[in-house]
Amino acid sequence: MPFSARYPSSRSFPLIPGARFRRTIAAAFLGGGICVVLSAALFAQTEPGRIPASAGSSIADTSLDARVESILQTMTPEEKIGQLVQYSAGQPTGPGTGRTDYDDMIARGQIGSLLNVIEPREINKYEKIAMEKARLHIPILFGLDVIHGFKTEFPIPLGLASTWDPSIVEKASRVAAMEASADGIRWTFSPMVDIARDARWGRMAEGAGEDPYLGSAMAAAYVRGYQGSRLDAPDSIAACAKHYVGYGAAEGGRDYNSTEISEHTLRQFYLPPFHAAVEAGTASLMSAFNSMNGVPSSANPFTLKQVLRKEWGFRGLVVSDWNSVGELIQQGVAADGPTAARKAFLGGVDMDMVSSLYHDHLQQLLGSRQAMPAELDEAVRHVLRVKLALGLFEHPYVDENAAAKALYHPESIALAQEAAEHSLVLLKNASGPGGKALLPLAGGIQNIAVIGPLGDDSSFPNGAPNGSGPRVSFTAALTKRAGAGHVSRFKGSGILDGSDADIAAAVAGAQKADVVVLTLGESPDMSGEAASRANLGLPGRQEELLEAVVHTGKPVALILFSGRPLTVPWAFEHVPAVIAAWLPGMGGGPALARTLFGDVNPSGKLVVSWPRTVGQEPLYYNALNTGRPAGDVDLTRPPTDLVSKYVSRYLDEPNSPQFPFGFGGSYTSYSYGKSTISTPRLSATELNKSLSAGVEGAPAMTAEAEVTNTGSRAGEETVQLYIRLRGTSLAEPVRMLKGFQRVALAPGETKKVKFELKPEAFAIWNDRNQLAAEMAKVTVWISPDSAHGSAAEAEILP
Ligand code: BGC
Repeated sequence: MPFSARYPSSRSFPLIPGARFRRTIAAAFLGGGICVVLSAALFAQTEPGRIPASAGSSIADTSLDARVESILQTMTPEEKIGQLVQYSAGQPTGPGTGRTDYDDMIARGQIGSLLNVIEPREINKYEKIAMEKARLHIPILFGLDVIHGFKTEFPIPLGLASTWDPSIVEKASRVAAMEASADGIRWTFSPMVDIARDARWGRMAEGAGEDPYLGSAMAAAYVRGYQGSRLDAPDSIAACAKHYVGYGAAEGGRDYNSTEISEHTLRQFYLPPFHAAVEAGTASLMSAFNSMNGVPSSANPFTLKQVLRKEWGFRGLVVSDWNSVGELIQQGVAADGPTAARKAFLGGVDMDMVSSLYHDHLQQLLGSRQAMPAELDEAVRHVLRVKLALGLFEHPYVDENAAAKALYHPESIALAQEAAEHSLVLLKNASGPGGKALLPLAGGIQNIAVIGPLGDDSSFPNGAPNGSGPRVSFTAALTKRAGAGHVSRFKGSGILDGSDADIAAAVAGAQKADVVVLTLGESPDMSGEAASRANLGLPGRQEELLEAVVHTGKPVALILFSGRPLTVPWAFEHVPAVIAAWLPGMGGGPALARTLFGDVNPSGKLVVSWPRTVGQEPLYYNALNTGRPAGDVDLTRPPTDLVSKYVSRYLDEPNSPQFPFGFGGSYTSYSYGKSTISTPRLSATELNKSLSAGVEGAPAMTAEAEVTNTGSRAGEETVQLYIRLRGTSLAEPVRMLKGFQRVALAPGETKKVKFELKPEAFAIWNDRNQLAAEMAKVTVWISPDSAHGSAAEAEILP
């Protein structure tokens, strides 16, 4: 059964009593999600200002255009500006404006969207004012940060990406859409598709890591999941790919910091996930806070107009980030509010989130012809198109009783657990007692001590405290799995603090145990927005706790909870088993308990390079080679001669990460055969012909390798394909991911894993910033991660 069929495909829209148009709003939802609007068109003829209805499946649906134009014609400049104005009318997610007169503003047609309103009754209250009191009855669009689930909480996006499974991401965002839409939220500010190369940046937690290929696959999966097969289905929500663009390259990893990104690097690394989101039909994008090469992203006509509108043909809505229009003043490109509004507006930002500067100044800018009516119309078109595509004109209200029924479906909870299971990355699993790998834990263990501040729900590793759904802490789940009386619990320390007495009690507890499970890491508020860290080690006294417990000599499995990789080199040397659990969401407790006992074989893989030390950051596998690569030099020793000194290296740390991008262990083992390719000679002319024809054609090359499960457990392995091009007009990275597949393998089973490489795989952004194939030497690896695999050589000839 397809996943979507397990969820109700419709919900009803009871109407506000007394609404004068209640007769006309009626919809029937047929199997397969087809929406049939019965009578709203009739309404259009009977009530002036009412908008004729028709179904909109996506923002690319040109049948919406006539409706957009007919609405535009009826609007005053003030009403048009109103559509471009958004305020937060709930829990603020940044410093606000202090405004609260939203009822009056909506009645005057001065607000197009509200964010952070999460009570269905409140949503209907505002919507009723828009639909009944405002002259044109244009519905308000309600937006919210629905990031990794609405109420059913999934792993953070970094964890979801570590599944390397876009289908799980799509299903998770479908659940999020179903729950949020039932609450009246039809717009999420997600997915965050920023490339993140620096673990100091707290928002690494919100994205899919460092790679543009994987990031693009995840971006498209989120959009498909949120938006479903039709945007106007009642359980679809509009996606918003953010933060456009380059926000993840913040200097020093400090949030909101400026970035310097060449056009080449922008096109090769930072733009592709946004382009993928646009291709997948995202209804909106959010312009970022950062300035890039001195130009703030929320006033950058090159990215917002040239690339997004002209090159990609995007027809949806661009919303600013929170007050990023106002921040143009602090960034130094505007000396006052009117200039900030003008620069953002002319730069290509349609909707102003929170700053109020469009509301305050656009009218005056039009009057002085610093902004033109045609530009205003174009921005309003983008907003109206999204509202029409969502079917909001036909269905402005939310059923106030529907939300509860949509939340926490057993299938949703099961999916959250499955996602958590697949997101766990086994970083290390060395020998425990008897020379066997410590994990999975042997049955019949009498006493397991769970030690550390993240072992229960008090620090919310499994999700926000305000969720009311069923949640099982790790200790509770482990107790259930191991049997009552077999698990003891010691906090050991807080996340940021701790006492000698707590550490001593934990050590005493460890001494009585057969096995210790350490649950250490960061609280959820140590990653995400405004949560950059200059140090990436365990916070507080946790390192001390770790070392004290390990010194008891008991076998220790360490579970790291965090929104980023943590530098714990001592643990990687001295602790036999380490799992990166990220922040695993509400299924995290059971997922970890099942994984420790081997009911689940870990299969997650890293989507970011795991640093040895913060001094290596930014750290990413798809870097350029230097003129003096370290090659075979032993970087664990100080240089001894000219050859080992004058290479690109640190004196005090290897260049390599602690664990490379793509790495993740398993309770079984896999061996990879030789990589072979179908076409050792390619032609640049032919590749470019296919690229400019733009049609799905035959692959330019197939590559394959045999992968064998050499252990005694069934497992799922994500097989990765990388290429390198040499001899090109601009230097290309030492490796670039161009394909991946999750493959299930029974013990002893061998599968031939085959990749089809399209012409795009061999195209580069060349020295004229055009995407084209060039003559090059090509190396292809099929491998378990970005640092291994056998190479096959090919060539691109003229
Ligand atoms: C964040 C965005 C978020 C917005 C609304 C901003 O501070 O950068 O990612 O969508 O607030 O909450």
